[in-house]
Amino acid sequence: MQNEKPLSGVRVLDMTQFEAGTVCTETLAWLGAEVLKVERPGTGELGRYTQEEPGIDSYGFLVMNMNKKSITCNAKTKEGFSLLEKLMKKCDVVVENMGPGSMDKLGFTYDHCKELNPGIIYASLKGFSQVGPYKDYPAFDPIATHTGVMVSATGLPEKPIKCGISVGDSGTGIMLALSIITALLQRKKTGAGQRVDVAMQDFIIGLSRSQWEPYYSNGCVPNRRVANGMPLEDVAPSDTYPCKPFGVNDYVHIYCSRAPGSAQWDNLCDAIGRHDLKQDVCPEMATPRERFKNKEMCDNAIKDWLKDKDKFQAMDWLCKHDIPAGALLDVSDITNDPQYYERGMMVEIDHPQRGKVKLPGFAAKFSGFDVEYKCSPGLGDSNKYVYGDLLGLDEKEIEDLKEKKVI
Ligand SMILES: CC(C)(COP(=O)(O)OP(=O)(O)OC[C@H]1O[C@@H](n2cnc3c(N)ncnc32)[C@H](O)[C@@H]1OP(=O)(O)O)[C@@H](O)C(=O)NCCC(=O)NCCS
Repeated sequence: MQNEKPLSGVRVLDMTQFEAGTVCTETLAWLGAEVLKVERPGTGELGRYTQEEPGIDSYGFLVMNMNKKSITCNAKTKEGFSLLEKLMKKCDVVVENMGPGSMDKLGFTYDHCKELNPGIIYASLKGFSQVGPYKDYPAFDPIATHTGVMVSATGLPEKPIKCGISVGDSGTGIMLALSIITALLQRKKTGAGQRVDVAMQDFIIGLSRSQWEPYYSNGCVPNRRVANGMPLEDVAPSDTYPCKPFGVNDYVHIYCSRAPGSAQWDNLCDAIGRHDLKQDVCPEMATPRERFKNKEMCDNAIKDWLKDKDKFQAMDWLCKHDIPAGALLDVSDITNDPQYYERGMMVEIDHPQRGKVKLPGFAAKFSGFDVEYKCSPGLGDSNKYVYGDLLGLDEKEIEDLKEKKVI
């Protein structure tokens, strides 16, 4: 395998923070871009330290900032601003997810950046669209998932419950990375840069697209909230069932396809030794909807079979009988299973403050190159390379800037 990275030669000025923006630039870095992360001197970006452990990189920072280079720069000083202007000319892409108006207030409007570098791809991630009525509103992940349909569909009928991970943050970051790569491809054809905006609310609306099927077919608002049930239609089995030894994450999810002609329910009956419940001999179990009407009967048969199986045994047995089943795997299950390291989904990095840490990597695998993993950068690790080698400042100039707390 040759290891020339697809984005090698692309340089990114990374003015992101927390999760949403940093995941975007981490994706670009994994794919080979040189990502220069701009952070405030002393404090770093907003997600680097926590209030409980000042001065120590948070685990959240480690997981979202692999493969980057860090420089410090106070963009609110005249000299800091001018350093970033110079860097803007040497970069292909600038990415930011500051609050509404902050980039403009700093002086880095799209127009100014385009003036500095007509080929620049200026990528912004905000909570809400920059042209809509919410354009000035701040947002974290739950704001986007609540305003983007998703939470109207998750949880229990009597209580909306948001997703337990930041799908709006990481998801929108990955959408922005995809959009930046698209803009880079277009620039190859036209030579021109462009502005790319993604709003978290808009990304989540797109992610919630399957909700339009029940909206039209049931003709009702609010949509159904089905907990672990099938979002598109009331069918069974579609649920999360307890397994041995009945701890907090000892569950398996089982869903049999609702597609006409599917053999999955009959397969399940064979797999759990309940031939008496097969479609052609048991009218109550004859169709996915009939099974939902008689859900207790359906669920009891499954629960009874699961009584002496753990979630891994249940998943293996059912999947081998061609029934979609997924054990409820938590962080510990994944971190301690060698298969994820063997295929590069989990990686071990060595962090100067935290020691060896096992973290998730990039999901896609390519036959043309390998994604390589480097630890997140220390604050200002690459000041010398960027200010010295790229911008041509000598050691004394760099020292002066440090003393004045510009960098
Ligand atoms: C997430 C969010 C609500 C956080 O709000 P916040 O804590 O008030 O932080 P902001 O981004 O508004 O402000 C950051 C400030 O740091 C400043 N800053 C950032 N980098 C800087 C640098 N290198 N030097 C000097 N100042 C810098 C900005 O100029 C801004 O200053 P301002 O408030 O005077 O405009 C807000 O950033 C936001 O809505 N972002 C867009 C949506 C988003 O990405 N949300 C998910 C994050 S995971």
